[in-house]
Amino acid sequence: MSRIELEGVWKSFGDVEVIKGVDIVVEQGEFAVFVGPSGCGKSTLLRLVAGLESISKGEFRLGGKRMNEVSPDRRGIAMVFQSYALYPHMTVADNIGFALSLKKIPKPEIRKRVEEVAAILRMEDLLARKPVELSGGQRQRVAIGRAIVKRPQVILFDEPLSNLDAMLRVQMRAEIQRLHQEFGSTIIYVTHDQVEALTMAQKIVVLQGGAVAQIGAPMALYKKPENAFVAQFIGSPKMNLLPAQIERAGGDSCVARIGMQAISIPARAGFASGDEIRIGIRPEHIRVSKNGQSDLKSSVALIERLGSETYLHLEAEHEPVVVRIEGDMQADVGDEIGIVFDRVHCHYFNRSGSSVAA
Ligand SMILES: Nc1ncnc2c1ncn2[C@@H]1O[C@H](COP(=O)(O)OP(=O)(O)OP(=O)(O)O)[C@@H](O)[C@H]1O
Ligand SMILES: [Mg+2]
Repeated sequence: MSRIELEGVWKSFGDVEVIKGVDIVVEQGEFAVFVGPSGCGKSTLLRLVAGLESISKGEFRLGGKRMNEVSPDRRGIAMVFQSYALYPHMTVADNIGFALSLKKIPKPEIRKRVEEVAAILRMEDLLARKPVELSGGQRQRVAIGRAIVKRPQVILFDEPLSNLDAMLRVQMRAEIQRLHQEFGSTIIYVTHDQVEALTMAQKIVVLQGGAVAQIGAPMALYKKPENAFVAQFIGSPKMNLLPAQIERAGGDSCVARIGMQAISIPARAGFASGDEIRIGIRPEHIRVSKNGQSDLKSSVALIERLGSETYLHLEAEHEPVVVRIEGDMQADVGDEIGIVFDRVHCHYFNRSGSSVAA
């Protein structure tokens, strides 16, 4: 019974509104990732769920029961913080078991549960060590162990990997996912890293300025962003957005003008002549023309060669455009090249940033 429902939830500090009416459901056993830029309210939302802050307006239900007034220790929710403090004078085993000893659980039972957790986190050999004798990743695992030893129905992670180096992050990502599979707890994982969101989540909640920008499965957000914010936030390098004007709407196709150049795009019900739009196209959905026919002419501003792929940074009609190419490509800064947009993968956003209906 650990389905999480946030309904019309607001949070203000004084007269500053930080969370502005969010509706979010996380199903029992689901791995949800809350993602968004710094300051968008991710930690605040987690703290509302954990009970560390009070909800100003709206309701939080866990397993169908209203939780607004329930104290944090009675919610069955554990939280792993971004900066976690282990007790330096205690061993790993005592750090993990500390919360249980506070609850006066008998020592043999504590030992059993600590050993269980150590096995799950693969740190049986480290139980007698002090935190100072551990690597950053091992310490992070102790912090996770401390949270899961209480057998919570819900685990909240607030950017738990941001202090680790890139390789450890990848490894810990896999461990947290394994933990989820073994435990089946409901998880909310907060990050500002969209790669973490795409690789870990069953459901992603994109937040912008204290409100929900979009909720969906990772590939749904990637393929069908509902607005320009999500379009650019999910995916790396980010989606190109080219300002354009609809010159002629109606029929099966219409003409969009980008600077001095015009391209034909499929007609959409939401287009009218004169509309200012932005055409969204991901770097992987643009190709370099080989036969002289192109949508846009552009010049090469920068080339990034990564071995398996190459990023061409172009300028077309004074707008930056990034193109991803498999493998290497012969090109020099200053070259003039034509580019072609894969129409199937084009997105169209209106002036307010919403996706234009087909
Ligand atoms: N106790 C508080 N009093 C006043 N304002 C606060 C308080 N806590 C957070 N805020 C403000 O609320 C907004 C959201 O903060 P929050 O910590 O939730 O952001 P975040 O998405 O977790 O950001 P980050 O990625 O940097 O951790 C910020 O503008 C922050 O300054
Ligand atoms: Mg935060």
